[in-house]
Amino acid sequence: MKELVGKHIVLGLTGGIACYKTAQLCRLLIQAGATVQVVMTEAATRFITPVTMQALSGRPVFVGQWDARPDNNMAHINLSREADAIVIAPCSADFAARLAQGRADELLSLLCLARPQGLPLLLAPAMNREMWAHPATQRNFAQAAQDGALVLEVGEGAQACGEFGDGRMLEPHELLHDIAASFVPKHLAGQQVLITAGPTFEALDPVRGITNHSSGKMGFAIASAAQAAGAQVTLVAGPVHLPTPRGVRRINVQSAREMLAAVQAEVDQATVFIATAAVADWRPAEFSTQKIKKDGSGQVPSLAFVENPDILATVAQSERAQRGALYCVGFAAESHDLLHNASAKRARKQVPLLVGNIGPATFGQDDNTLLLIDAEGSYALPRASKTELGHALVAEIARRLPTQVAA
Ligand code: C5P
Repeated sequence: MKELVGKHIVLGLTGGIACYKTAQLCRLLIQAGATVQVVMTEAATRFITPVTMQALSGRPVFVGQWDARPDNNMAHINLSREADAIVIAPCSADFAARLAQGRADELLSLLCLARPQGLPLLLAPAMNREMWAHPATQRNFAQAAQDGALVLEVGEGAQACGEFGDGRMLEPHELLHDIAASFVPKHLAGQQVLITAGPTFEALDPVRGITNHSSGKMGFAIASAAQAAGAQVTLVAGPVHLPTPRGVRRINVQSAREMLAAVQAEVDQATVFIATAAVADWRPAEFSTQKIKKDGSGQVPSLAFVENPDILATVAQSERAQRGALYCVGFAAESHDLLHNASAKRARKQVPLLVGNIGPATFGQDDNTLLLIDAEGSYALPRASKTELGHALVAEIARRLPTQVAA
């Protein structure tokens, strides 16, 4: 995650038991390359000590507005001018009420009010489910959002008070993702992106089948990058062991035909279709409902195959794709002569953008190189992590989208 390298985050803690999670968030931010200045309300210091947060952030913590350490005695100005973002985690119901009213009688709300226009303010609500559901709380967060804050989601589950419901603060790794994502340019705002990823599994019998070594990493990285870039993302995934990227809707499938059915059910809502899946070209002509047994005679079964549907070609030939309402991106995993083979594939599949890579160099790897081929020619994205390539590819796709496409 490159977004946080060199960023300076003012991490504000308000009163709530979720403060213990913010200690971990502080560490994760620093591991991701950010510097962190902690500011705590008086109530927050009842839940976790400034000593803990100082040790984790490597900087003295600010608690009061009358702290005489700054030469000018204006901590609220200095802290907010240095920051690339202010993150309030946990953000209590009381603090949201203060923000909504523009209160400035303690340091944290004062520095939020004094922040320069355009400086991102992220709020991670954390409270009991009844407090969260209360109309006053909802009104206050809505007002804070209207005034420019980004209100993050709340989690659902068991609460420290013993109740169960909405209002938990997001987990530290989820907050880290959302903070990083807030720095990603929203190139795909308003777009609906549908992505296929991973291999397919074509069953022979209840215990066997044919598949391939696709890990799904590239497709999952693109899904995550597209979500961070502001798109609504649906990911149709073959059998892979990867966590679902945050904020992405995932549909699991096994076979090529299931993948096609899932894509066809979703594609009318999509404005961008990215086919990264390594779909099996053939499937067994017949599925044996019972395990195919060896009988000891040395005889091997003869297997017949039939061709699978080409999901990308099917989508690319649809009426919406043909008139430019759906932008299609294909992938080609080649073993040699990448430019020639990938260009031929682009023409054959009738897609505006084809992304070529060398199959053995990408399957299962964490990094890769990509060759983009469109009507203008070819353009290489040099070797980088799949996460970085996902972001770079999303920016390249966004640049190529027709500005005005009718649904
Ligand atoms: O024909 P080939 O498999 O090389 O084409 C690769 C591209 O087509 C990839 O984008 C892949 O996801 C897509 N594809 C597909 N359905 C298939 C085969 C490939 O969507 N049956």
